[in-house]
Amino acid sequence: MTSNKKLQEWVKKTAEMCQPDKVHWCDGSQEEYDRLMGGMVKSGMAVKLNEKKRPNSYYFRSNPGDVARVEQSTFICSKKKEDAGPNNNWCEPEEMKAKLTKFYTGCMKGRTLFVIPFSMGPLGSTISYVGVQLTDSPYVVCSMRIMTRMGKKVLDVLGDGGFVPCLHSIGAPLKPGEKDSTWPCDPNNKFIVHFPEERMIWSYGSGYGGNALLGKKCFALRIASAMARDEGWLAEHMLIMGITNPKGEKKYFAAAFPSACGKTNLAMLIPSMPGWKVECVGDDIAWMKFGPDGRLYAINPEYGFFGVAPGTSMDSNKNAMLSLTKDCMFTNTGLTPDGDVWWEAMSPEKPPKLTSWLGEEWTPACGKVAAHPNARFTAPAGQCPVIDPAWEDPKGVPISAFFFGGRRGSVVPLVIESFNWQHGTFLGATASSEMTAAAAGKVGELRRDPMAMLPFCGYHMGDYFAHWLKLGKKADPKKLPRIFYVNWFRKSKEGKFLWPGYGENSRVLKWAFERIDGTAKAVETPIGYLPAKDALDTAGMSVSTEALDELLRVDTEAWKGEVDSIKGHFDKFGDRLPQGMKDELEALGKRLTKAPCCA
Ligand code: GTP
Ligand code: SPV
Ligand code: MN
Repeated sequence: MTSNKKLQEWVKKTAEMCQPDKVHWCDGSQEEYDRLMGGMVKSGMAVKLNEKKRPNSYYFRSNPGDVARVEQSTFICSKKKEDAGPNNNWCEPEEMKAKLTKFYTGCMKGRTLFVIPFSMGPLGSTISYVGVQLTDSPYVVCSMRIMTRMGKKVLDVLGDGGFVPCLHSIGAPLKPGEKDSTWPCDPNNKFIVHFPEERMIWSYGSGYGGNALLGKKCFALRIASAMARDEGWLAEHMLIMGITNPKGEKKYFAAAFPSACGKTNLAMLIPSMPGWKVECVGDDIAWMKFGPDGRLYAINPEYGFFGVAPGTSMDSNKNAMLSLTKDCMFTNTGLTPDGDVWWEAMSPEKPPKLTSWLGEEWTPACGKVAAHPNARFTAPAGQCPVIDPAWEDPKGVPISAFFFGGRRGSVVPLVIESFNWQHGTFLGATASSEMTAAAAGKVGELRRDPMAMLPFCGYHMGDYFAHWLKLGKKADPKKLPRIFYVNWFRKSKEGKFLWPGYGENSRVLKWAFERIDGTAKAVETPIGYLPAKDALDTAGMSVSTEALDELLRVDTEAWKGEVDSIKGHFDKFGDRLPQGMKDELEALGKRLTKAPCCA
């Protein structure tokens, strides 16, 4: 328990409203985790995987109506609508509270209310913050134990201090004697609600991922982005990696790609070039503050990986696979007859039969997927074979470069280096990507996803761009991270990826590394610096000259089309669009007009 009055009162008030049978304060112990898992196995919610194949690991199938983030049900309830911006759904805070109070009243009947004290970031780091999640889902408790530093040790650090209150209910009360379903939730009434001014989160109806593990997108991005704006730091949807060259020199990079666009893969990549090494600090979120030396330092606020399972294999991401050998949770993958998990492309040969994420009999010929495209693993970050030695350093790691990117089948080249911070901010602000299954919506549809933060920025995106520009102006330009834009997903006319990706992406990282050192050559184009001919190290790699030419081609006419599309994107932000962004768009238009037609 705790002496924290605010916490005690909030737990008491919430219990009165939600009416659980019991209140349990989580201590974060192994014993507690095992007991909760045991309970879920007994109720049919969890399956314990084969102890010989995957020790201490568990399998879950969600309700098919609860498989991903739900952006249309996600709200930023700032006092003023314009502060939420066109990038967010908005509702007046008191109106939303009144509405949700009705849903929350009695919503935990027949269940236990768990109190989860958690720290985003290493305990005691000046970059870290404490949150407390109240939830009626034991699945969430176990997930939070992997994804955050959680339990009694956090209460000890919290003392009488402040915390971000995160209220969560799956919205499925049980009548006396009623049998529980295997994934209780309220699929038709989901609300993921943020009160940025109060630094508070209310989530209802969903038990899945970012909707329910409130430390992640809700706190570490939506609430933290508002905190970061007020306090002069950055909370970003970025992986953090260390990269070492054959001489043993090391730099840290951070990269923002939209959901299911390659952060986990890049964060733990195995370079295809001899002598290079990549180590992982984090795969999804970065919190960054300026250090006393004027450089930007990043921590990974998380403690685990909640990663996309389909497509993950010993070929595509060996280090992720090796992080999953024990002590993990799996949700919505397939389940093999010998009690292990399987998903699309996990192995070249498909199992002859298994039970799919829907609980149906599956064979390779059945014409359906074994795993939902947004099936995920939950794994302790410390199990990653290439976890960076500094990943828990409370000071964070100094960032030398940012990478923005997304999935673009055409137009956008393999890599662009920005001219300067303002231009780099523009590249981030205009990032675009074809949508993925990480959120419910139209997969494949192209959208602008600024800094991969469109679904995660807890305030007006125009103000967010201004915040980036302001940080850049305050800092010493020589100490700021350099900014690059990458696209692993450009396709040929036949629809094939032109770039092999994965470990080969290290070649692009090498170019960036050497640009920072001043040793790699670039050509200036209207859209930014691109690798000069032969500046990209392709030794020992199978990519044709034609493919490489296409990957690095700047199609001036197509980019003029981009300018129009960016204008439409920027228009949405009205008078909150900073002048610096307008200037960059105008300058891009001018450079393209001046460019020779076939550049
Ligand atoms: P979130 O956890 O949703 O934020 O996603 P993420 O950005 O961490 O995505 P992840 O690394 O899990 O990548 C998801 C998908 O992108 C998988 O299907 C990968 O196979 C694919 N992918 C990752 N890197 C590459 C690449 O370099 N080339 C290609 N073609 N596909 C890639
Ligand atoms: C994402 O969608 O970007 C994720 C998964 O990282 S979730 O935690 O569900 O947001
Ligand atoms: Mn993510």
